[in-house]
Amino acid sequence: MPTLKTLAAALLLLATRPAAAQARHEYLLDTDWKFAKGEIPDAANPTFQDAKWQTVSVPHDWAIAGPFDGNNDLQAVKIEQNNEAKASLKAGRTGGLPFIGTGWYRRRLAVPQFGPGQRAVLLFDGAMSNAHVFVNGKEVGYWPYGYNSFSFDITSFLSPDGNNTLAVRLQNQPEASRWYPGAGLYRNVHLVVTDDVHIPVWGTYVTTPEITAGLAKVRLKTKVETPNGAFQPLRLQTEIRDAAGQVVATTSTALAATDGLEFEQNLVVPQPKLWAPETPVLYTASSKLYAGDALKDAYTTRFGIRSFKFEANKGFSLNGQVRKFKGVCNHHDLGPLGAAVNTAALRRQLTLLKNMGCDAIRTSHNMPAPELVSLCDEMGFMLMVEAFDEWKTPKVKNGYSQYFDEWSERDIVNMVHRDRNHPSVIMWSIGNEVPDQSTPGGNKIAKRLQDICHREDPTRLVMAGMDRFDDDLKNNFASVLDVPGFNYKPHRYPEAYGKLPQGFLFGSETASTVSSRGVYKFPAVKAKDKKYADQQSSSYDLEACNWSQTPDEEFVAQDDLPYVMGEFVWTGFDYLGEPTPYDEQWPSHSSLFGMMDLATMPKDRFYLYRARWNTTAATLHLLPHWTWPGREGQPTPVFCYTSYPSAELFVNGKSQGRQTKGPSDQPQTRYRLMWNDVKYAPGTLKVVAYDAQGKAAATEEVHTAGKPHHIKLVADHTSLAADGQDLAYVTARVEDARGNLCPDATNELKFAVSGAGTFRAVGNGDPTSLESFQKPQMKAFSGQVMAIVQASNKAGALRLKATGTGLKSGEIELKTSTAAQ
Ligand code: GAL
Repeated sequence: MPTLKTLAAALLLLATRPAAAQARHEYLLDTDWKFAKGEIPDAANPTFQDAKWQTVSVPHDWAIAGPFDGNNDLQAVKIEQNNEAKASLKAGRTGGLPFIGTGWYRRRLAVPQFGPGQRAVLLFDGAMSNAHVFVNGKEVGYWPYGYNSFSFDITSFLSPDGNNTLAVRLQNQPEASRWYPGAGLYRNVHLVVTDDVHIPVWGTYVTTPEITAGLAKVRLKTKVETPNGAFQPLRLQTEIRDAAGQVVATTSTALAATDGLEFEQNLVVPQPKLWAPETPVLYTASSKLYAGDALKDAYTTRFGIRSFKFEANKGFSLNGQVRKFKGVCNHHDLGPLGAAVNTAALRRQLTLLKNMGCDAIRTSHNMPAPELVSLCDEMGFMLMVEAFDEWKTPKVKNGYSQYFDEWSERDIVNMVHRDRNHPSVIMWSIGNEVPDQSTPGGNKIAKRLQDICHREDPTRLVMAGMDRFDDDLKNNFASVLDVPGFNYKPHRYPEAYGKLPQGFLFGSETASTVSSRGVYKFPAVKAKDKKYADQQSSSYDLEACNWSQTPDEEFVAQDDLPYVMGEFVWTGFDYLGEPTPYDEQWPSHSSLFGMMDLATMPKDRFYLYRARWNTTAATLHLLPHWTWPGREGQPTPVFCYTSYPSAELFVNGKSQGRQTKGPSDQPQTRYRLMWNDVKYAPGTLKVVAYDAQGKAAATEEVHTAGKPHHIKLVADHTSLAADGQDLAYVTARVEDARGNLCPDATNELKFAVSGAGTFRAVGNGDPTSLESFQKPQMKAFSGQVMAIVQASNKAGALRLKATGTGLKSGEIELKTSTAAQ
């Protein structure tokens, strides 16, 4: 009979040591890190005293706290892509934040469940950059490229007494980037403990070689590692479950001596539900690895069942249906949160993109956070995962070109191995606008990189984003690629189609229209490289760079040329750095290209794309705002971005006539309804939209605002997960007494959070604002500020209060709960 004491001891053992049957233990190393900036001799040494260092949690971006300074990474460059003739000083090119230099992270590394016959691996989702990793004072590995994931086996470095120290040294060089890269352990770090007979990191590869309505063949290749790579008679048992958790296929396979330590399993899923952006259905393969009866490892691979093709003259089809990519390019930073990855922030971005009807993302110009790839699987986005912005020929002095020869293969292999099981990933991109397009042998590099992708993943095609059109054709650069992607070349698509062998192409980067949210300039005319004293661009969406276009010019090519397979617009969101056309004008430090601003607030352009891309919900949006004291009687054009074909505009009840979209030599009139001669009079702007049958279908009004009166808080969702990570984005609107947005309000708003959460960050989308993202106060830009609040681990009510001098304060209560999403 077990005594109470032994029973209690056994229970305790069970509680502290997960069931003996569990062979794999994965830990997120997110808390209790110590961080310090600077060259610190001895910081890797286990006896080093780091008590005075800052305590941080990871993901962590050491530079986002600021302060902004035009001398941070001041670059004297000639931006070739902007057709600049000579070098000039660019202060905000990489965001003006203090990310240059060395930083150290240290942490005690407990390795529970570790003992003889086991292995421990550290997996970094990304570390910015030049990561040197030390365990107990010894270097276990180095990885230079800040965007890639990498892992090191640390088994032989661990101390038998369980007392271990992990130290990571990171270093960012100046002039190494064309945008804000972030700094530090900005992605997650994992510790994986397994038996020494185990499935390694990214050890499975799932493909679906045949799909019919009745069945899908699923091929799962699973690598195993054994001590000294010696053969062992192992068995792998795999079950596939559908989204509801029902087992739909099982198999059990013995490893043969001739298998080279890789299992191949072929399973059949009956009546498969296909993955598509509109139906992001996922399956999971759960594999158990046995030696005799002993469970050695357990590994789960999530995947989707879908087929796609690229066919000459027909283009791209997914699950047999031809479609064009409605895509955006995005950089990795999360605006006010910096580069530190946060799943809730990514989900917020994807929710907005979904609402716009976007179905594809290009992870420009580097490997994304794994959280983004998983969310794209779940929420339904096709991904083009990109590797590099530079090959051998530099764009910036200390860019990736210095690592290219030694690291490019390893970087591509990791990229492909990490992401090849994801149904969202449709294509690999080996590069963006690499200057090697123009150098002899550039096409050979392209071929080599493409071949590596094919070797590691024969199921996907490879592209590169090309901007040097004539060289691409002359140097056989474009013809080498599986899929030719052109940046900003809608006017040359017919020529490319005629001269290239593929029979299809796409806009890998399009538009680069510039605008600032809520800012309108008069007269509203098409312009290139247009600059204004306030360092903003007009939201009439008519301004672009000398090499780029308005959205509509690309739309014409997309709609009229069947072999063009879609577009990836530059960009979904504004990002830190690259404030073109104000590259030389500090304090401009963030981009103006986004459909949404840096704080994720939609600009007018969001609705122009939504009207075209969202085929399930109608769009009816008017611009500009209608508060123009001093413009009375002056021409103040009104545009309507709508999915309806036609509409009539009224100013204070007086018709301004009916406009209908239609072909003309002006691409804009095909995609926007425009009343260019409206004379401003304060009051009400009203539009009545007519459907294809000519019936009045919807109306929209904009009112002249009175004086700022109160702050209204609007949360993107009011129910949060009490997980210490979840975020709500709360828009603070300065409104007049009647609830109209005051579009010129610049009041400083202050935020206070109480209850079950904390203030996380603030942003207003103004590319010239040098206010801190991390202090709970900011001036309104075009009447609005975005406050980002974070749930704590405790369920309850999170209250946010916003105050501003002369304004009635605003308050909102959000609920956080352990079950909420
Ligand atoms: C493209 C380039 C992007 C970005 C964009 C806007 O040429 O590929 O990375 O620089 O222009 O300036």
